[in-house]
Amino acid sequence: MTGFTVALIGPDGAGKTTVSRRIEQSLPVPVKYIYMGVNTDASNVMLPTTRAIHALKRLRGTRPQGGPPDPTRRRPEPRGGLRRVLREARSLLALTHRLAEEWFRQTLAWYHVCRGRIVLFDRHFYSDYYAHDISNGAGERTASRRVHGFVLKWLYPKPDLVILLDAPPEMLWARKQEGTFEALARRPAAPGGRRRSEDRRRHAARGCRGPPDFPADPRSAGDEERNVSPGQTSRPTILVTDAGRGSAVSIIRSLGRRGWRVIAADADRRSLGFRSRHAEERLVYPSPAHSPGAFVQWMIEAISRWRVDLVIPVTDAAILPLSEERDRLPPACRVAMPEPEPLRVVTDKRRTLELASRLGIPTPRSVLVDSAEAAREAAGDLGWPVVLKPMSSRVYRDRKSVEAFEVSYANGADEVMARARPLEGRVEVLVQEYCAGAGHGVGLLMHEGRPLAAFQHRRVHEVPLTGGPSSLRESVALDPVLYDCSVRLLAALRWTGLAMVEFKVGPRGPILMEVNGRVWGSLPLAVMSGVDFPRLLAELYLLGPPTNGAAPQLRYRLNVRARNLALDLVWIASALSGRRGYAFLEVPGPREGIGGLLGLLDPRCGYDLLSVDDPGPAIGEIPVIARRMWRGARSSA
Ligand SMILES: Nc1ncnc2c1ncn2[C@@H]1O[C@H](COP(=O)(O)OP(=O)(O)O)[C@@H](O)[C@H]1O
Ligand SMILES: [Mg+2]
Repeated sequence: MTGFTVALIGPDGAGKTTVSRRIEQSLPVPVKYIYMGVNTDASNVMLPTTRAIHALKRLRGTRPQGGPPDPTRRRPEPRGGLRRVLREARSLLALTHRLAEEWFRQTLAWYHVCRGRIVLFDRHFYSDYYAHDISNGAGERTASRRVHGFVLKWLYPKPDLVILLDAPPEMLWARKQEGTFEALARRPAAPGGRRRSEDRRRHAARGCRGPPDFPADPRSAGDEERNVSPGQTSRPTILVTDAGRGSAVSIIRSLGRRGWRVIAADADRRSLGFRSRHAEERLVYPSPAHSPGAFVQWMIEAISRWRVDLVIPVTDAAILPLSEERDRLPPACRVAMPEPEPLRVVTDKRRTLELASRLGIPTPRSVLVDSAEAAREAAGDLGWPVVLKPMSSRVYRDRKSVEAFEVSYANGADEVMARARPLEGRVEVLVQEYCAGAGHGVGLLMHEGRPLAAFQHRRVHEVPLTGGPSSLRESVALDPVLYDCSVRLLAALRWTGLAMVEFKVGPRGPILMEVNGRVWGSLPLAVMSGVDFPRLLAELYLLGPPTNGAAPQLRYRLNVRARNLALDLVWIASALSGRRGYAFLEVPGPREGIGGLLGLLDPRCGYDLLSVDDPGPAIGEIPVIARRMWRGARSSA
């Protein structure tokens, strides 16, 4: 069986990309998405030569073309015969390359059609160039534009079905805020019923030739993903905190590729996120951990000054003070953080476990204590070893600081006392039974308790070796039990936004560890595997939830691995050293360390910060790692 092609065209903000991506993920038949517009940033396939030209333009600091040129724009005639010849030669070369690119994407489409797939075109060259190269009076067009128009009109295959997405100008404006409202209202009336049915008739038959009448709005052609110069506020502006983290870099890239204006912000002047080419502004704020009050004040001012539409706070240290003072934030700006009550539940591990128990989700046996003596008494009933888990890993201290706490372990009464005493009066502690097993995390995007997308990873390496943030992880198929538990927990909280639910999966089955109610550390793996959480998150906050009944995105590539290089080197060094913080816990040793070292050579494993078309953050990480290794070597010498 052969497939067919469908093109989604329409003005900016009509939702072409969003709709085609959703169709691709939710149809039960094989669908291939191909971007058929001229914006290289938005293209999912392109010729290597286009990629190279694109990279070259970036290096020279010129922004690549976002859409086809304005048909009304006239270039001055070059003076002098040689200049004219050179310009002709250049435009001929550009034309050859443009045609090669267009036919390359069409060949790919044929390939997928032959394999029985539905090929979804996001935009189409015919409609994008209609105003510029096809419909303009022949006399007004240059030779190369006429040739291009002729090829598109008479030779270039047309889609089997064309779907025009349109919306009232108010809505387009509200969604994209591109161009001007007046221009949107003035745009040529969307082809009405007559035109649409004509389109359908013309293109219902496969292999139809001749010009279909489906030009999109000429003004908007290509504008949807067009990059507008920095400082201009016509695109949504998104501020991402903690820009140096792998997860933040992944967000900056996703949203930058979406064509939105991204502001990278961090407390560190040398933040790796500042090196991303998708960061259009780079702002340094006061440390939220050490001066949360000043951080919030800074944020209030930055939101107004830079006209921020959405803030994505990446860490708890940023979320907690922002949440406490959410009423002071400019109301027009959205902040991708949970509502106060759900946030209180997930940042209090005792309340998280209570909720889970009520829902019948397995949790470790735990006792909440507020003194070392009480911890010792509680531990006796749980069996050894026990886990001493501060009730919250981050505690916001009334505008003064955000204090961090870590999990520790004890294998006897004296050890419990020794580890619990320093926490007395600072934070309540859960004394918990130890659960052996593999660490799994279910990442979810929710809207009012309804899942929109989900992803599961297995932690391969964790730092410290006894358990903590993952430095190497792998995408695995969604386990129905883990997915069900995670969704029920978040549904009970009517959760909106991102969250990652952590489990240990051992001989007793899955046991809940905690809910990270925010962007999680291994987010780059989810994006690499095909779940673009950052984009979905921003679209949820800025464009609203998908229509009721849309199935959640649950499909992604399996067995994809990604590593946080700096952290994984710590894992390798710890494993190789053979030193054990807790002699009674099984942890990887030198043999696994050598395996980890060799694993660095595995070309299939991705890196959180590495992206070929945005090398800045990964290059910037090299001296950071070198400095750390040098310091490590000196302190152990
Ligand atoms: N009861 C437990 N049994 C075994 N390991 C645990 C237990 N609780 C926590 N851990 C380990 O400690 C890590 C950190 O605990 P977690 O509750 O996730 O706190 P944090 O807020 O520091 O991430 C977990 O990923 C897990 O590896
Ligand atoms: Mg955790």
